[in-house]
Amino acid sequence: MSFTPVHRKNFGNNFHWGVAIAAAQNEGGFLEDGKSMSIWDAFARRQGKIRGSHTPFVAADFYHRYKDDLLLVKALGFNSFRFSLSWARILPDGTGKTNKQAIAFYHKVIDECLKLEITPFVTIYHWDLPNVLEKEGGWTSTLFQKWFARYVKVCAENFGDKVKNWIILNEPLSFTALGYMMAQHAPGKRGLFNFFPAIHNAALAQAEGGRIVRELVPNAYIGTTFSCSEVIPNTQREEDIKAAGRLDILMNRLFIEPVLGLGYPRDDQFPFIQKLEKYTHAWRYTEKMYFKFDFIGLQNYFPVTIKYNALMPVINASQVNAKTKGAPHTDLGWEINSESFYRIIKKFWMYGGVKEIIITENGASFKDKLENGVVKDDKRIAYFQTHLRAMQKAKKEGVNLKGYFAWTLTDNFEWNLGYSARFGLVHVDFKTQLRTIKNSGHWWRAFLQD
Ligand code: BGC
Repeated sequence: MSFTPVHRKNFGNNFHWGVAIAAAQNEGGFLEDGKSMSIWDAFARRQGKIRGSHTPFVAADFYHRYKDDLLLVKALGFNSFRFSLSWARILPDGTGKTNKQAIAFYHKVIDECLKLEITPFVTIYHWDLPNVLEKEGGWTSTLFQKWFARYVKVCAENFGDKVKNWIILNEPLSFTALGYMMAQHAPGKRGLFNFFPAIHNAALAQAEGGRIVRELVPNAYIGTTFSCSEVIPNTQREEDIKAAGRLDILMNRLFIEPVLGLGYPRDDQFPFIQKLEKYTHAWRYTEKMYFKFDFIGLQNYFPVTIKYNALMPVINASQVNAKTKGAPHTDLGWEINSESFYRIIKKFWMYGGVKEIIITENGASFKDKLENGVVKDDKRIAYFQTHLRAMQKAKKEGVNLKGYFAWTLTDNFEWNLGYSARFGLVHVDFKTQLRTIKNSGHWWRAFLQD
């Protein structure tokens, strides 16, 4: 496959060019101005959960440096900014009283965006559940829908006059699978009896959240995001092809199909799916899990290569890592493959019912070195160039692509990897919080000015 050179102008004048961040990864401001503990604060306090025993307590200090960070967004030439709201800051008790200081903080962030003519995109939930709610069962609780509805209502009522672009959930598969099945992310739970109710609550919450914002915010542009990865069978043997099919259901189909009114994906040969249907009584909820989003957000970092593995419970499959495969990869070992990015965009576009697509995250982590005030991150520049080219090709072929958000503005708290993984366009020295625009940031500025 060949991609022609990429130009900003090929995406049109109304394209959203942005950077994305998330509250738990950037804000810091731990317990400040009434914020309560989130599940990530609690998780970080548990031994051995986060690399280097790092915590999100200070992160990139966006809580105090938002003005400077938004100036950086402007300086790099982006016209849009995606950030998330912290539930534990806004409703410290999870459901009860609204914290006025938190509302004031987000108004300041939004006002600053508007002053700089940067369009805010607000993510309502990016993984940082208030820990008080986790103690009541969190995403597995039968009360979850009630809690979530209240939180979404508070967000929409308080910010809906200024913010028109709303994202309900960030990657439901990631926080349910990593947090409630594999124990790698907060809250560190395991097992299908946690995973199933978490999945079902997320599938219901994304649709219901959409309905609440639609009702409360006039002229809202509403989306929700999905992680996605092309799933490539390791060989053309039937068992590998079937294994790849199972992973495709989990990684790409599980959350979008309910939104489109199709219910959970169907597969007679994948017991996981039958069990999910049975456990959740899913057939009763097809209507409730459906919502006509204005756009869907796709977040792609890598494809996966899958082979049959009888020893792996539930999925009977395992991943062949990029290094073993001899494929180019980032410093986290994630395969770099922009052609696969093109194919996954096309795959989601093929669903009837997807009106518009925004790439709400895409980026790469490398072991950047700050030397004499410069970060020479050529590999990240190449990553963006090739991925933008792939997107340009998809757009040219008729995919209704409306925006692209690079992950991420500054280096930040990369969940269970702590500060060891750097995805930013701007380098952060976490001892001093000094920001230095990396060469990839300079590259973006040139690209967006062109
Ligand atoms: C998440 C981000 C995360 C990024 C890189 C995405 O799945 O939404 O919060 O930092 O991937 O791992």
